Amino acid sequence: MQKKLNELWEKGIFRELKTLRQNGIYVEYEGKTYINCSSNDYLGISGMKNLQKEFFDSIDTGNFLMGALSSRLLTGNSIFVENFEKYVSELYGKECLMYNSGYHANTGILPAIAEKDDLIVADKLVHASIIDGIKLCVSDFKRYRHNDLSDLERILEQNVNNYKSIYIVTESIFSMDGDTASLKRLVELKEKYGGKLYVDEAHAFGAVGESGLGYAYNEGLIDKIEYTVCTLGKAAASEGAFVLCSSTAKQWLVNKSRTLIFTTAAPPVNVLWTHFIVKKIVEMKTQREHLQSITKRLRNKLVGWNIIGNTHIIPLIIGENDKCMQFAEKMRANGVWAMPVRYPSVPQGQSRIRLSLTAAMNSEHIDKIYESILA
Ligand SMILES: Cc1ncc(COP(=O)(O)O)c(C=O)c1O
Repeated sequence: MQKKLNELWEKGIFRELKTLRQNGIYVEYEGKTYINCSSNDYLGISGMKNLQKEFFDSIDTGNFLMGALSSRLLTGNSIFVENFEKYVSELYGKECLMYNSGYHANTGILPAIAEKDDLIVADKLVHASIIDGIKLCVSDFKRYRHNDLSDLERILEQNVNNYKSIYIVTESIFSMDGDTASLKRLVELKEKYGGKLYVDEAHAFGAVGESGLGYAYNEGLIDKIEYTVCTLGKAAASEGAFVLCSSTAKQWLVNKSRTLIFTTAAPPVNVLWTHFIVKKIVEMKTQREHLQSITKRLRNKLVGWNIIGNTHIIPLIIGENDKCMQFAEKMRANGVWAMPVRYPSVPQGQSRIRLSLTAAMNSEHIDKIYESILA
């Protein structure tokens, strides 16, 4: 192990845990405070201490709320999780099933639904949790070039008669490229070839749409997408995930999805917070508009730099790993915490600074981020 760890170090891809304290839009490390461009707190909820107080004042702490004590299929299925699922289901007009995290959802749903005679076709850039889910599947697997729907159509055309079902898998906002998939075109393609669509909305839930319910809902496509996964650890500043699907699919997952069946249910206190905060998120239109406006401000300032995407995740491509590390260190020396995302997490030569913005930032913070890039 040590020899291999040394090799990682030499290649500039050694990972280590740092002791940090997140404080609203700031992060503290070794006695210094930085603007945090590396959290997924897109609405700035973590800094809304008034909401945390309102939440704690609203719960009955006399009940044992800190742990679920067993799997949902044993005795862990509390009224709290049922209430949350019912609430979400009414919001979207579709059945909802909660998981303990996005990682649990993606590694538990795909292996449960895709069978031996099926094919999964995934965008080249889908998140590691989806890749891990696919690795657990008994079905065949192919990837299409990122957001290249003609490449996807070529694969669908060649394989449509060879498989029982074809699952198309994508993210709506891509976590590392900050760009968006055309869900409308994907729905058209899956309908043309009789497939099924699986969309991960991890970076869109809370941040996108009139009520923050994500891309699919905003574009009126929820009913046309078989599986929509939203995670709760990012804009919702909580933990967990849910999938929107048909009631038959929900029953199937309760019977077959191993990451739902063989794990202790989420702690009730956490589910209560999730329910509380999702209700608030629906009303946070001002924050979503502000997030768009500061995104535009920073993207406009960075014209001429190698930035990609079109969302509140702004990847600034630097190139090789060592250069990217140096760039992040320079930004840090200028008061901004922006973690480098390096090969092998992204393709070689495309190491990047992933700037993720939060609605708690104002234009002065954006200017400070820009200055740290120029420094
Ligand atoms: C696209 C995507 N899906 C799923 C996940 C995993 O979600 P969670 O952090 O809730 O496990 C992530 C996390 O970074 C993600 O970016």
